[in-house]
This record gives sequence, C-alpha cells and structure tokens, in this order.
Amino acid sequence: MDVIRVDAHSPDATVIARAAELLRAGKLVAFPTETVYGLGANALDPAAIERIFVAKGRPSYNPLIVHVANADGARAVAAEWPEHADLLAAAFWPGPLTIVVPKRPEVPDSVTAGLGSVAVRVPSHPVALALIAAAGVPVAAPSANRSMMLSPTSAQHVATSLDGAVDLILDAGATTVGIESTVVDLTAEKPRLLRPGMITATQIERVVGPIVAVTSVTGEEARPSPGMLDRHYSPRARLVLVDAKDVADVVRRERAQGANVEALVVASRDHGSPMPRDAADYAACLYERLHALDHAGVDVVVVEQVPDTAEWAGIRDRLERAAQR
Ligand code: TXA
Ligand code: MG
Repeated sequence: MDVIRVDAHSPDATVIARAAELLRAGKLVAFPTETVYGLGANALDPAAIERIFVAKGRPSYNPLIVHVANADGARAVAAEWPEHADLLAAAFWPGPLTIVVPKRPEVPDSVTAGLGSVAVRVPSHPVALALIAAAGVPVAAPSANRSMMLSPTSAQHVATSLDGAVDLILDAGATTVGIESTVVDLTAEKPRLLRPGMITATQIERVVGPIVAVTSVTGEEARPSPGMLDRHYSPRARLVLVDAKDVADVVRRERAQGANVEALVVASRDHGSPMPRDAADYAACLYERLHALDHAGVDVVVVEQVPDTAEWAGIRDRLERAAQR
C-alpha cells in the first residue's frame, strides 16, 4: 500500500494521473474529500465495487455514494434529474450534499444495493475533483474505514483502519468539514432528509421548500436508507452522551469503576477537554478527537450533549449513533 502526500489546494498532476490510472484499472484509491476520506473505485466496474465491500467488511445491503465532477456527471448516472436536483446542485455543489435520484441501468446493482436509486455528490475538495476528472469515470466511495467504525479525517486514520486493503492513499492532510455529507432523497413526492450533516435542513428548505426528516436512530420500521444502522460511526471506546449538568457525575462514576475516562465538553469546562462552541469548528475536530482518544487507549468518552438545533443536527446524529450499544 502506497501513501502519497499531495497538496490539498493544487495537487501534483502526475500523482493524480497515477491515482486515476489505478481507478481505471479496477484498484482502490483512498482520497480526501472536504467531509471525510473516501475509499474510491470505478463506479461502473462491478469487480472494483466488490473490492470496496470486502475491504470495509461492509454489508452488501448498504449502498455507496457515487462521486462525480459536476452536475452533468450526476445526470449521466441518473435516470431522472428532477427540478429539485437542479436547484440543490446549483446551491450546494461542489460541497457536502448527497442527492438520491433514480438510477440508470449502467450503474451496477452492487453500487446501489439493488435499489432503483443512486446517491450522487460533487465534492468540493480540489484533490477529489482533480481525481474524478482525471479518472473520467464516476467514483463510488464510502468513507474509508472498516464498516461501523469512525470515519477517517486524515490519511493516517485510513491507513490504520484499512491497512493493506487499499492500493493507494492520497494524503492531503486533515479534512475540513469533518463529518459525512448531508443526504437528501428526491425519489419520493417530497424531499426527504436521510442523513443530517453540515448543510442543514434549514438551508435545504430555503431552496426546495419543506423537507421530511426520516432519520431515526432506534425505530423498528424499515429504514428508508439501508445504511442507517442504529449503531454507526463508533469509536472503539464506549461513548456516553450526557447533559452538561451530568458530566461531572458520570465521569466520577465511570472512574470509580476503574475506567480510563475522558470527557469532551462545551459548557461544563471544568470537567473535561473543551470542544469548540461553533458547530462547524466542532464538526471539524470531532472525529480527530475521538480517533486520538482511541489511540490513547481511553475506555470511556463522556460527551456533553450538543444543542438540538438544525445547525448541530448532523453532529448530534453522529454522537447519538456512536453512543448506541
Ligand atoms: O461525506 C460523505 O458522504 C462521505 C464522503 C467519502 O463522500 N461518504 C460517506 O459514504 O459517508 P458512506 O458509504 O459512509 O455513507 C453513504 C450513505 C449511507 O448511509 C447509505 O445508506 C446512503 O448514503 N445511500 C447511498 N446510496 C443510497 C440510496 N440509493 N438510497 C438511500 N441512501 C443511500
Ligand atoms: Mg461510512
């Protein structure tokens, strides 16, 4: 497995050409996006897609996001491109928004887990855009981690999680958004929010009108997005999500049981390591902090609950999923 360092803003064309060549040859290339690192393969090559599922230990019912260079690239994999897709693409692409639309038959069933729809996104990271353009094919890429684990926000996280299972890692340093893209489904009558993220429901509603939130952490009903498993995005350590007023007590109780405990706090600053008060800054460092605590051998991470607002919805969702046992 090769790790090649590239400049995040103007990646070396020779390195990009080599990575693109690997993708066209059916290999797996991990690359940075603005959200998290992705594990890329040629979306039109079923054998390469199979390698993604094997490398991640990902269940075959969980479909992949197809990354394209622009809205035309998205139309090329979509059987229909509704008006709402045009509006969302114009407002948020390139950027951390994934749009689910009906798929064309050329997209292998393995990419979409047999669904009639495909998830597409134009990332804004210059390395991702350069790679997709050079490859000349749509690039299927889930987050570049073992299934159910924390997503990688650095090349080091990818190397640790997928050791040996990836042909090349493009290392452009830390990602900036820090949590996975917002996912909006446009295949039903009203747009549906399948996964909250740093592009908020409020921002999306300004563009397409009311959207239905269908994210549920624990419900028994069939999941509209097959990847919405209850537990997900988890560090190795046990994550406990508590109100600010309870942080000190919970930390004390866990320590009394002999656990190596760390707390990530915003308001209760005397009782743990401070996290940013701004949602974008918080998201940007959350996974890095959790990866570092795992690396340090912490057993329990007590996390102070974050605000219940649209701005924080993506972060709250990831914390709630990580806290599921
Ligand atoms: O920010 C991101 O979205 C990152 C970077 C690499 O782009 N990717 C990412 O991929 O988070 P992944 O595979 O970890 O999450 C993809 C999500 C899953 O929840 C999956 O179920 C959903 O997208 N998804 C994919 N295709 C879908 C479809 N056709 N219908 C509904 N949900 C879909
Ligand atoms: Mg993932």
